[in-house]
Amino acid sequence: MEQQPQTFIAPQPVQPLQPQATDQPSPTPEAQKPVRIAAVGDIHVRETDKGKWVDFFKAASEQAEILLLCGDLTDHGYAKEAEVLAEEMRACTIPVVCVLGNHDHDKDEHDAIRNCLVRDNVHFLDGDAVVVKNVGFAGVKGFGGGFDKYMLSMFGELSNKAFVQEAVDEALKLEAGLSRLDTEYPGVKKIAVLHYAPIKATVEGEPEAIHPFLGCSRLAEPLDRQNVLACFHGHAHVGTLEGETPKGVKVYNVAKPILQKAGFAMPFFLFDV
Ligand SMILES: [Fe+2]
Ligand SMILES: [Fe+2]
Repeated sequence: MEQQPQTFIAPQPVQPLQPQATDQPSPTPEAQKPVRIAAVGDIHVRETDKGKWVDFFKAASEQAEILLLCGDLTDHGYAKEAEVLAEEMRACTIPVVCVLGNHDHDKDEHDAIRNCLVRDNVHFLDGDAVVVKNVGFAGVKGFGGGFDKYMLSMFGELSNKAFVQEAVDEALKLEAGLSRLDTEYPGVKKIAVLHYAPIKATVEGEPEAIHPFLGCSRLAEPLDRQNVLACFHGHAHVGTLEGETPKGVKVYNVAKPILQKAGFAMPFFLFDV
């Protein structure tokens, strides 16, 4: 498939972009045509997975125009696993938008994982935004903290406050990425990409005792404030596929085990923007 121009919006330094005309939302019939996105999280690639993901990437490239990978790209967080994934992704001919997951951080090799996978058409988001085929994407890993009235508050020991602060920071980064899309591409349709869940509904199915470690309602606030079209995440492997924020933003938990359990022939969820 022919590659479309893409513009990457780096979070720092904050400078006005000089967007290319081809990236601007345009009223032409071509620009109004829906863009089909394939999304999956938690592919957990291992060093023994050589050759196992080629069909997946070929199928995604045939059926969609953009692929979202919603974190936990590697199983144990080793750069060597990312090397295997990079080789598998040679079969992918469409642009890819990714965030990292907690597994990708486990061995403190997340920078090497990102560097191994990033290419001209593979974008990693961490408070950043990117416009691909006239669709805006903002993404962060996210963090835990719990949901709604049971959300952990900024109280007590420093270690507890640090835990809460991590979720606050992730929500602020998401908000910054979404704001930049609005500022620099007014009217662009916005998609959020996360690893952790922003709402309780899409972690339902997991033991309630671990819900605080699966996501945080703080991540839903930017989605509602910034008029996001849809949000994709993973992390809760036995959660629920669909839910929505308090203001009705669609949220999809596309963790691979959920898609497999739902009977998807290939483990990616298709969504038209
Ligand atoms: Fe996972
Ligand atoms: Fe995870």
